[in-house]
Amino acid sequence: MRYAHITGWGAYVPPRVVTNDELSHVVDTTDEWITERTGIKTRHIAGADDHTSTMAIKAGREALKVANLDPAKLELVICATSTPDYLMPNTASLIQDGLGASHAGAFDLNAACSGFVYALTVGTAMLRSGLYRNALVIGAEAMSRVMDWTDRTTCVLFGDGAGAVVLEARDEPGGVMSCRLGSDGSGAEFLKVPLGTRIPIHPLNMVNGNGPTMKMAGNEVFRFATKTMNQVTRQVAADAGIAVDDIDLIIPHQANQRILATAAKQLDYPLERIYSNLERLGNTSAASVPLAMIDALNEGRLHAGDHLMMIGFGGGLTWGACLVQWTYSPADRRWSPYKRARQALRLALAGPRSWAGRIERRLDFWELRRRRADRRRDRGNPT
Ligand code: UT7
Repeated sequence: MRYAHITGWGAYVPPRVVTNDELSHVVDTTDEWITERTGIKTRHIAGADDHTSTMAIKAGREALKVANLDPAKLELVICATSTPDYLMPNTASLIQDGLGASHAGAFDLNAACSGFVYALTVGTAMLRSGLYRNALVIGAEAMSRVMDWTDRTTCVLFGDGAGAVVLEARDEPGGVMSCRLGSDGSGAEFLKVPLGTRIPIHPLNMVNGNGPTMKMAGNEVFRFATKTMNQVTRQVAADAGIAVDDIDLIIPHQANQRILATAAKQLDYPLERIYSNLERLGNTSAASVPLAMIDALNEGRLHAGDHLMMIGFGGGLTWGACLVQWTYSPADRRWSPYKRARQALRLALAGPRSWAGRIERRLDFWELRRRRADRRRDRGNPT
């Protein structure tokens, strides 16, 4: 039996911090309302040079360093995002290129705020099946790019960032132990960014509130979120054969402190053991669970052997949870200076390698054209 262990992690949030007070100059809101109704105080907002892929590359680099994994040995990049750089190409391929992961397959996965839990489940299944030996699983979002900055009911909630984990297949039990995913498309209208083939890109579609900005029926999503957290936590704990109280730490999607408090009551579980960094980062959609996991780790709240429940819920409507038995041990992290230097070199060479690839492709194209022109000329002037 193979197990999928989390052996590396990395986080990136853009440096620009936006406070509630600052937002009160943008929309009709107050620090009191946002703090009381959501628990959010600040969020990080992407600068002009921050994109979903660039933030994910920064998080991914850190994760590879922690895992001591050479980017050339990475086999799979899965990027959970609902704010891709482009509709096409996929963001994961940009990340694969940016990391110099020259032997990795790459794909995006969109399950909105549940995206990371979905991606972790898919990555785990790939490793457990024996098809892949490792995967980089990322949740990355540039939510600020799809906000309607005149809509106080949404723009105060979201932030930007990326969190990544390296999954590696090992024989020792532990890591991602059990997962469940769910979906109810009848609630699709409650949370959406209306950009896609149903709404062809046309200037008229960008005006009168029809632009590709987020629309959310907050109350509906709130009700769904509290019900879901309760149900999925109980299900996944039962699947893993443990009691809810045996979960050492719950890392939920960071949407609203009141959702976490309600879930704690419904689960009869201490709120102190439901991790929250909402106050500082707001709701970063698919990035929120890995960012919270990494913050919890840095605060010393995760120890080898702990049972950790990661929970996602959001647009779709989608939800999911993964029970992880944390197996991190400092002894795992030893790596020779030679290997470390080789990894640093590979990461540093990712950019030049990408440019070399582009130039090589252009040269190939010119050569092809030159040969075609030669052939045409030869046919026209038979000797
Ligand atoms: O990540 C995906 C999952 N997302 C979620 O889980 C979000 C779930 N929903 C929520 O977190 C909450 O529903 C919100 C934070 C979005 C809204 O909180 P609420 O307590 O449900 O507020 P509400 O929508 O019921 O609105 C109450 C009042 C309204 O005013 P009236 O109609 O009573 O006069 C809103 O217009 O609060 C008003 N309001 C605001 N006031 C000041 C809404 N947004 C704001 C604001 N500042 N930013």
